[in-house]
Amino acid sequence: MKQMVTLNVNGEQHELAISPDTSLLKVLRDELGLLGTKRGCDTSACGCCTVHMDGKAVYACVVYAMSVQGNNITTIEGLGSDGELDPLQDAFIEAGAVQCGFCTCGMIMAARQLLDEEPNPDEEQIRHAIAGNLCRCTGYAKIVDAIKLAANR
Ligand code: FES
Ligand code: FES
Repeated sequence: MKQMVTLNVNGEQHELAISPDTSLLKVLRDELGLLGTKRGCDTSACGCCTVHMDGKAVYACVVYAMSVQGNNITTIEGLGSDGELDPLQDAFIEAGAVQCGFCTCGMIMAARQLLDEEPNPDEEQIRHAIAGNLCRCTGYAKIVDAIKLAANR
């Protein structure tokens, strides 16, 4: 049976009727139309569904939407401000860190948490921060370069 929930996503309140076992990923994509958050494995193995819950990166596919009432959820669509991209988004473009793009939003959300907590990370910290995010295309070098580039700005 569906229940009413109120979710705070990208600074906006949304009231929705959902089943208790509905994942946050399903709500973001299928109810709110926030398609930047990708569905890959749906089992916490790939990281492409990474969003922030109160500033911490989580896999939206394994978080029940009902459990995040009262938390602030941020998706890739909520990064940046005043119509400008987040510096990480610019850096990914500039460094050529995107190929098919399927992993990119999750990578950027993971990297955003890192730079929020450690503005000048070394390469080991960068690789550790994105260790839970799989990319089948880039070989990771350009992704690491992009995160370094954003950190240097
Ligand atoms: S879709 Fe969530 S970790 Fe793969
Ligand atoms: S750019 Fe294709 S999976 Fe990462």
